[in-house]
Amino acid sequence: MDIRTDVAYQQCIGAKCGATFAVTESIFECPKCGDLLDVRYDWSRASLPKRLADFEAKWARQDDPLAFSGVWRFHELIPFAGREHIMTVGEGRTILQRADRVAPFAGLAAGKLFLQYEGLNPSGSFKDNGMTAAFSHARLVGASRAACASTGNTSASVALYSAVDGRVPAVVLVGSGKIAYGKLAQALDYGVRVLQVQGDFDACMHRVKEVAKQLNIYLMNSVNPFRLEGQKTIMYRILEGLGWEVPDWVVVPGGNLGNSSAFGKAFRELVETGLIKRPPRLAVINAAGADTLYRVVNEEKIAWQGGRVDDARIAAFYTQMDAENRRAKTLASAIEINRPVNLKKCLRALEWTGGIVEKVTDQEILDAKAQVGAGGFGCEPASAAGVAGVRKLRAAGVIGAGERVVCVLTGHALKDPHATVAYHTKAGAALAEDYGEYGVRTAAYANRPVAVEDNLEKIIAAIQS
Ligand code: F0G
Repeated sequence: MDIRTDVAYQQCIGAKCGATFAVTESIFECPKCGDLLDVRYDWSRASLPKRLADFEAKWARQDDPLAFSGVWRFHELIPFAGREHIMTVGEGRTILQRADRVAPFAGLAAGKLFLQYEGLNPSGSFKDNGMTAAFSHARLVGASRAACASTGNTSASVALYSAVDGRVPAVVLVGSGKIAYGKLAQALDYGVRVLQVQGDFDACMHRVKEVAKQLNIYLMNSVNPFRLEGQKTIMYRILEGLGWEVPDWVVVPGGNLGNSSAFGKAFRELVETGLIKRPPRLAVINAAGADTLYRVVNEEKIAWQGGRVDDARIAAFYTQMDAENRRAKTLASAIEINRPVNLKKCLRALEWTGGIVEKVTDQEILDAKAQVGAGGFGCEPASAAGVAGVRKLRAAGVIGAGERVVCVLTGHALKDPHATVAYHTKAGAALAEDYGEYGVRTAAYANRPVAVEDNLEKIIAAIQS
C-alpha cells in the first residue's frame, strides 16, 4: 500500500484564524484561538484513486489488516498515519442493509430505506471507526496515556483499543447513574480505570479536557480531529453498498455531533477531489430532551455562514441554558448531551450538505427501535432516533416518497437490554413507573412474552392462540 503521511496537517476551523499545525502535534484545540481543529490534506500530493470503485479490490485481503479493516482500506482518503503506527482490530467491517421490513414504518417503499449497521463493530458501536484512527495517531505522537468522557460507547471502544494495544493505558470518565449496563460492563471487563463522576456527561466532558491538559493525556473524545477521520469511512462504505451511488439522505442521531461533522467532511472532500458529483443531504436527529442543535439551528437560526458563525450568539445560548438550569434528559442515554463539542463543525456540515435538524421524543425513539428490531436488525435507543426522524420527516413531506434514505444504526441492541425488555414486557402503571418521567406511555409495537405453566397442553395452547 502506497502510504503518504507528508500530505496531512492540522488546521483551525476558525475563518479568522485558520492556523496550521503538524500532524505530529497532539493539541485538540487551536492553541491560538481555542477553536476546533481539522485534519487537512494536500490532495494534489496524495495518492488518490481515480475512481471510488478502485477501493473494492482490497475487501477480500484477509492477510493484511490494513486492507480488510473497513477504515484503513480507505487509507488514501485518510492519509495521516504510516503503516507502522496503525492500530487496528478489523473494525468497520459493517454492512449496508436494505431494510424493506422497516421501510413502511418510516413511510418509505421497499428499496428506499437502508440501515448502515455500525453495531457490528468489535465493541458494538460506530466508535471503533474513530478509535482506530485516534489510537493510531496516539502512537504516532508517542502518547503514553489516553482519556475520554463518555455516555458509554466511547468508553467501551477506548477500553477495547487500550486493552489490545497495551502501550496506551486509559482512564474513562462516565456520569453517575445513566450509563447503560452493556457499555459499563465492557469498560470494566477490558480493564481500564473507570471514574464514575458525580455529574452528567457535559460535566465529564468539561473535566476530561482539563485533566488531559493538566496531565498531558491524549484525549479520545471527538474534539480529537483524528477520530473524525476514521468516522468518515462509514460514508465510504455506504456509497460502496450502493454501488458508489450517492443516496438522497443520510440520517444520523446527534449527540456530541462527531458523526455528523465527520460525514459532512467526508462528502465535502469527495466532491472537492471529484470522486463524487454531489453530497447527500444530512439529517441530524436530536432527542427532544437533548435538543441543543435543534434549537440553535431551527429556533436561533445560527448558521455556519462560510465560517462567519456568530460565536457570541452561541455563547449567549449556553448562558441562557445555564440560567434556566436546563439539563439534558432522554432515555437515549448515548445522546443525553446538551453541550455538543462539535457544534460548529456540525453547522458547517449542514451548510455543506443542505442538511437539516429534527427532534424526536423518547416515545418515538422506543417505537422506532422496536420496529428496527422487528425488521431483523436491532439497535440501542439513540440509534433508533434516526429512523424515528425519517418517519417524522416523511410525514411532513421533507423527505420525498421516492427518495433513497440511509440511517446509521450507531450502536448494537445488546448495549442497552434494559430499555428493550422494559418496552416489551411492561404496560400501564409498570411502564409509567419505569419510563413515565421520559413521557413514554405506550408500547404500540411490544412483543409481549407469554407466561405459561409447565404443562404440555397449556404450552401447545399458548403456541396456537
Ligand atoms: N449513537 C450512539 C449509540 C452513541 O453512543 C453516540 C455518542 C451517538 C449516537 C452520538 O454520536 O456524538 O457523534 O453525535 N456517544 C458518545 C459516547 C457521546 O460517549 O459514547 P455523536
